[in-house]
Amino acid sequence: MPQPSSSHPVQIDRFFSGPGGRGDQWQNLVELAEAWSNGGSREQFDAALRKMMATEGFYAYPGHELISALKQEAEGNDAQATARLARHITRSVLTRSYRRNVGDWEAHEEDEGVASDVLPPTLGSSEGRRPYFEVLIVTGAPAARWAALRAEWRRLRRPLDAFIYEPVLVGSFEDAFCATMLNPDLGAVVIHEGFAFKSQQNLPILRMLEEAKDRREDSQELALHLAQVIKRVRPELDLYLLSNGRVEDTAGDPKADALRRVFYAVEELLELHLAILEGVQARYDTPFFNNLKQYAQRPIGTFHALPIARGKSIFKSDWIRDMGEFYGPTLFLAESSATTGGLDSLLEPTGNIKKAQEMAARAFGADRVFFVTNGTSTSNKMAVQALLAPGDIAIVDRNCHKSHHYGMVLAGAQPLYVEAFPMTEYSMYGAVPLRTIKQALLNLKADGRLHRAKMVDLTNCTFDGHIYNTRRVMEECLAIKPDLIFLWDEAWFGFARFSPFFRPRTAMGAANDIEAWLQDPKSVSEYEKQQAELGANPTDETLLKARLLPDPRKVKLRVYQTHSTHKSMSALRQGSMLLVKDVDFHTVEAQFKEAVFTHASTSPNQQLIASLEVARRQMELEGYGLVHNAVEVALAIREAVAQHPLISKYFHILGGDKMVPAAYRQSGFTDYLDPKSNWVAARRSFQEDEFCLDPTRMTLVCGTAGFDGTQFKGMLANRYNIQLNKTSRNSVLLQSNINNTRSDVAHLIRVLVEISNEIDQRLAEGANVRKTFDERVKSLMTDVPDLPNFSHFHDAYRKDAGKRTNEGDIRSGFYAAYDAAGCEYIRLNDPEIDRRLKEGPDLVSANFVIPYPPGFPIMVPGQVITRETIDFMRKLDVKEIHGYDAAEGLKLVRPEALAKSTGAPTKRAA
Ligand SMILES: Cc1ncc(COP(=O)(O)O)c(C=O)c1O
Repeated sequence: MPQPSSSHPVQIDRFFSGPGGRGDQWQNLVELAEAWSNGGSREQFDAALRKMMATEGFYAYPGHELISALKQEAEGNDAQATARLARHITRSVLTRSYRRNVGDWEAHEEDEGVASDVLPPTLGSSEGRRPYFEVLIVTGAPAARWAALRAEWRRLRRPLDAFIYEPVLVGSFEDAFCATMLNPDLGAVVIHEGFAFKSQQNLPILRMLEEAKDRREDSQELALHLAQVIKRVRPELDLYLLSNGRVEDTAGDPKADALRRVFYAVEELLELHLAILEGVQARYDTPFFNNLKQYAQRPIGTFHALPIARGKSIFKSDWIRDMGEFYGPTLFLAESSATTGGLDSLLEPTGNIKKAQEMAARAFGADRVFFVTNGTSTSNKMAVQALLAPGDIAIVDRNCHKSHHYGMVLAGAQPLYVEAFPMTEYSMYGAVPLRTIKQALLNLKADGRLHRAKMVDLTNCTFDGHIYNTRRVMEECLAIKPDLIFLWDEAWFGFARFSPFFRPRTAMGAANDIEAWLQDPKSVSEYEKQQAELGANPTDETLLKARLLPDPRKVKLRVYQTHSTHKSMSALRQGSMLLVKDVDFHTVEAQFKEAVFTHASTSPNQQLIASLEVARRQMELEGYGLVHNAVEVALAIREAVAQHPLISKYFHILGGDKMVPAAYRQSGFTDYLDPKSNWVAARRSFQEDEFCLDPTRMTLVCGTAGFDGTQFKGMLANRYNIQLNKTSRNSVLLQSNINNTRSDVAHLIRVLVEISNEIDQRLAEGANVRKTFDERVKSLMTDVPDLPNFSHFHDAYRKDAGKRTNEGDIRSGFYAAYDAAGCEYIRLNDPEIDRRLKEGPDLVSANFVIPYPPGFPIMVPGQVITRETIDFMRKLDVKEIHGYDAAEGLKLVRPEALAKSTGAPTKRAA
């Protein structure tokens, strides 16, 4: 139980301080106890323990009894016994062995040997081990009764239960809120009416949070209010209300929607216990995977294709048995091309895949989900094909993944490219400012072509971590065109659903918030008030400056999100999901079927499908803690690089203030490492700022250490077995995810120290070495080519285009390349290029040219090539350029072919 602390406010507001931070506190306590037992003073131990008590009550372990025992040992002045018990508790907290070992809950002597719990779980048997979670119980009962209440809850356990849980008791709204934020192991919350509002702790941070404002409500209102707040922070948790009054009235209150069930307080506790287990079971259930496991156990004879199924051709072979031994027999038993016999068809799901997709929709806040087994490359193409027809205009980030550009080619849609803000010094782009998107829509309107604009297609977050204000983008665009469709490519951001900080800035999080706003009766008057302020004919500048509200009566909310489940969750490579929240989905359902039939393999891999489902299960049950861990690891890396005297001489990681220009950080938030940053500042930034930085995406500048990105990436991989993500001319992108541990951080930091040391030593060799190094750094950091903007499509591909906008018929441009006689090649350094740039005729690209890095198409089919683009290409020092063969040269559409080209796309009726 949280004890009243000293008058000093307790700092529980290190917003991303997760399980690692708590482990550190315990380890620090052990060190202080040992120092005391080695002749030091007791004071520091007491102070640290007192400080920890502010939050330890929010976890089941070590719990009241063990903490009391620890305090007693300290009060009895027995330093040795105190240190022993602190070690015992700390070991259990760190290895989480208290989940299985009853002995860990007792204050007995520690076992100093290597416990089996320290070994990886695969080395021990998981049989008979029941998954463990904790249940938060918010109660008005006096703290003196809590021990008895805990015992009562524990007595409900039965050997039949599929899971095991421990109760965590708190006595106030504020404590309940903190426990929900801090304890990643919670699986359910039981709210008894009659608890207090204020914590006995001095927690000033809480008093600044809107969610935790005291509204002086009666006990029933307060209970429902708490339920709503918890649901907003952690929607995956099951909430139960124990009401003392008229349960029928409470259950019928719309505010009770957040609750899974309402119980009459005096009724049997066993019912509640069963409901809690059933609620967790509903998230644990994986219908497809369960059936696949059963299928693999059956003695099935296959007369299908797929000889690898059952593994007989492998295990009987002298030549390929090693593959069977490597993967193990289960993989082959679970391989099947069947869609019956307990399995289902991904292309036309009616059974357990359908159910699995519905469960994923629940988990990710969508109306429906399509599982995709060919990566988000395919999910994007499916969405673009299903939602756009030839001639439709889509506003697209030119810097987006190539699947969108190819999707436009396939659909015959006309991309209207918008540019992200450049970060020229690091050779990368940011994200597309809302003003640019609104301007594109207003230009279409001025040209009388707004009806042709069907979609806004953006990447959230970007490869480098720029997160959009998804709600604001959608609301403001819907204010200009109320039926626009949004496709958010969240390839890297699927995990974000499970953090209350990131969730509102995901496509689905924002769509759910907009939906709630649309249903709020106050929205129409808010809209009308703004209309009156804007006047009858507002200028474009007025509309660009205003934070536009859409007309709630006209809006059709149509939001799509794709994510690479494999990039941030526990799915096998290529596992991806397409999420839908579209009020008009019924009008495009048939088109989606066609898109699935077009793109999905007719032999989807069973293991991939199962892994998508299992990834969903994991995120619903432990995603909150895992995401916190990924963020915590990222912050640890950021902090270590910034603070290490040697590393920081040569390397730095770009903070929020460097990645997002001040103009887009309206809240004034700077960076996560800023000592002023806490829950409140981060919340404000996530609510208000046009762009935020995903802290897990770390741009490590290596140009200042004399390495270009590709060189540094190769060195880390070859010398140190560290694999990392993308590179730019002078940086590499590091990414933390749910799989990283503190040891990974330690390894990376060691390596950076070693490399920094080597540089130091080299530079000490003499002035000439220093001079060469400085020149190299200068070249990498300042000699950076300007990033070329999209120019325009050639007139041959703009037959039906507007005057003010740059859209074009990319498909005709693309197919021009199929006519060999109509194309020519000119080498990049041929003076003919310079002559044509000066005198014409135009150089028109016949294909996509995509250098890696930076990874965006500097030319698309049908695009007129400008001096800027040629200069950029000539300065590029990367080897991998898709769509360009240096020996042949640039592939261009011949001027004669352009003249002949009709280029007119099939125009769609308005
Ligand atoms: C923004 C973006 N979208 C889509 C994709 C493609 O995803 P996948 O690799 O799952 O096909 C990527 C791949 O890197 C990406 O960066």
